[in-house]
Amino acid sequence: QTIRNTGKSHSFQKLIQAPLSSCTCLLRRKSSDVSKKFLSFDEVVSQRRDEARRSLVVQVNSESSFNELYGYCSNYASINGIHHYKNAGGEHFMLIEFSTEDNLKEILRSCGSHQKDNDIMALQSPFLWFRACSGKKEKIAPTSNTLITKNGNAAIDENLLCEELGSCSTVSDQIQLLYDKTMLNDLGIRLRYMVARQLEIVFESLYANIAVRPFGSSVNGFGKMGCDLDLVLSNNLTDEMSDPTKRLVYQEKKSEGGRGPWQRHMELVGELLELRIVGATRVQRILHARVPIVKYAHEFTNIDCDLCYNNMSGVHMSELLWMYGSLDPRVRPLTFLVRRWAAAVGLTNQHPGRWITNFPLTLMVLFFLQQKTNDGFILPSFKNLVNRAGKEDIRIAEENVNCTFLRDMNKLPLECYSQNQSNLETLLLQFFEYYAQFDFQEKAISIIEGHPVRKPNALPLYIVNPLEPALNVSRNVSFEECERFKLEVRNAAWQLEAGLEGEKSDDWGVLGLIEKRASRNLKKLLRVGNSHRLVSVKDLFNDNEENISEEGLRSKLQ
Ligand code: GTP
Ligand code: MG
Repeated sequence: QTIRNTGKSHSFQKLIQAPLSSCTCLLRRKSSDVSKKFLSFDEVVSQRRDEARRSLVVQVNSESSFNELYGYCSNYASINGIHHYKNAGGEHFMLIEFSTEDNLKEILRSCGSHQKDNDIMALQSPFLWFRACSGKKEKIAPTSNTLITKNGNAAIDENLLCEELGSCSTVSDQIQLLYDKTMLNDLGIRLRYMVARQLEIVFESLYANIAVRPFGSSVNGFGKMGCDLDLVLSNNLTDEMSDPTKRLVYQEKKSEGGRGPWQRHMELVGELLELRIVGATRVQRILHARVPIVKYAHEFTNIDCDLCYNNMSGVHMSELLWMYGSLDPRVRPLTFLVRRWAAAVGLTNQHPGRWITNFPLTLMVLFFLQQKTNDGFILPSFKNLVNRAGKEDIRIAEENVNCTFLRDMNKLPLECYSQNQSNLETLLLQFFEYYAQFDFQEKAISIIEGHPVRKPNALPLYIVNPLEPALNVSRNVSFEECERFKLEVRNAAWQLEAGLEGEKSDDWGVLGLIEKRASRNLKKLLRVGNSHRLVSVKDLFNDNEENISEEGLRSKLQ
């Protein structure tokens, strides 16, 4: 990804390329931090939150509105850069990053409203509309600045991706390319922080010290373009606010009614989303679950959001995954491939159920990379990170969940990670082989220990939650799904090994692993009986037809 330095950033900050291991984008570092190998999760998050506080998303007529918008806004404030993208409805938007938060406030003070009778003006909303000039057009001098990204929110075309994967010279290159081309890009991350900031602005007027933070795949380094946005709303009091020496304290509003107070507050959040959050649609309240959530779709950014209250252990879990991903540059590409393969063979699925999901699957990859083989290991055990934690690493989340572990990876001795030098191709094959022979009947997967441990109960798949060791993060997985997992890893190992011998075919290397099963079956049929016929596989199928029968395929061909 390219982010151009517009020359307007502060002189004490430098734009430098973060090491590949920790980068999802170019990150700004203070000059005092340049010698650091790893940025911490907190540093990255606070930079992103700060960026969102200085940014606006403006709906425009088309990408050629850039010059006019740049000219108009730079009359009020100094601009760091503008990114362009389109939403699913084909509408055009520009994300503008200003130099300071004061700059942004200046712009917001000058905003108007549509002036319709039934409109209630939005409150400091960071989502705006750039009205076409009604009177005589002011002449705006063309700016020498250009858009940083054009159509920057679009996922790569699948046919193009397959073509590029087909022309890679090694399987390792394919795995790296798949990661580079499908990971959540800089604009995708910015937009997710904008969606969080938009909620924060509205809730700030009702609750003290409120924060809305993204967690999950949007920030843990394992998110792909278009991934969902998990958000957590928290309002913990600061030490200063709860200082017992303060004589004047606020009277508290005790919640009335039987249910837990936050269930009531989440009801209000649902109402606010419907009434006051521009762009929020299809609001769904799931308030009786263990963790009550409100789901909604953000139509200006094409992001599906899940908002919950005070699930800080989820945020610390995301931090842990992010740290593991940043320790070694092979972790994220390998995990991307495994997540993609699992989706292609139908092991994972967008809907909740008796199957494995991306989070436990990611823990399985991390666990595999912790194994001490003859070639050495790649990742340290979680126990090792806990033992090295200092006072500054202490974090206690809701329900007293202890989330204390070493945060600063620069303090981790070199011999604790990346001891194995194998390439991605070897690691992928070993991943499949490792789980093909894993004793799921007797053993549990525990990244705390970094080696298999005894299963405490008879659930088919047991993956220990590193932050709450008494819990199994794959407790929902059925016996049949676990059996299917075993079968699929064996198939994948066999397929990958067989594909490495002989000539390159059109499902060479990882292509055979990540193609949806229906497409692969159809291709086989085409090769057997219809090799002369040109058919676009994508055009023949809907996404929900992954498990179509051979008969179904034949009828489609006819
Ligand atoms: P995708 O949404 O599939 O891209 O992956 P994801 O990593 O975002 O997973 P998901 O949305 O299911 O969960 C969001 C985050 O919540 C995860 O990344 C974890 O940080 C956290 N999480 C999920 N399940 C558990 C759990 O059982 N226990 C705890 N403590 N955290 C969990
Ligand atoms: Mg998620």
